[in-house]
Amino acid sequence: MDIIRQAEEYARNMYPERDIFHGWEHIEEVRRNVRKLADFFPECDFRNLDLAAVFHDIDYSKPEDHVSNSIRIAEEFLVSMNYEIGDIQKVKSIMRAHGSPESCKKENMLEGQMLYDADKMTRITPQGFVTLTLYCVVYMKMKLPEAVQYARKRVRWLHKSLNIGYSENIISDDYAELKKILRKL
Ligand SMILES: [Fe+2]
Repeated sequence: MDIIRQAEEYARNMYPERDIFHGWEHIEEVRRNVRKLADFFPECDFRNLDLAAVFHDIDYSKPEDHVSNSIRIAEEFLVSMNYEIGDIQKVKSIMRAHGSPESCKKENMLEGQMLYDADKMTRITPQGFVTLTLYCVVYMKMKLPEAVQYARKRVRWLHKSLNIGYSENIISDDYAELKKILRKL
């Protein structure tokens, strides 16, 4: 079995335990976005990018520490699989890049930008907006109207923070639909 299949099998069971908003479905959505972006960048290191996508939110038990905690789980798994050390470092850098625009800039790599965008694109859709709003209510303990306002600002910010022009093209229909909904709220 190749490393991607093994990683999928390992991670698929772990996600539902860690956080209902970052279940396996979110990972599949991010990976679909990664594949769409990879069509424009055939030179990218797709295997390590896909591995980083599989593990990027695997430990969301403490949202503020999820990047470093998820990296630790990915590293433990990849080491146990005797995955090459240089590739492990690359997977870790890509995962680190998805945390914030600052860390994305710091890692300074195409695959990091691709994972950052693929992840944020999942929020810049009507469904993503609803999920984000619920997250604010359940985890950040906001009242619903406050959560709606926060999520509205956040999705606009996320859209502006995208790194790659192709990402905006890929989500343009979803974003147009979302803006229509936001105007009515
Ligand atoms: Fe994510």
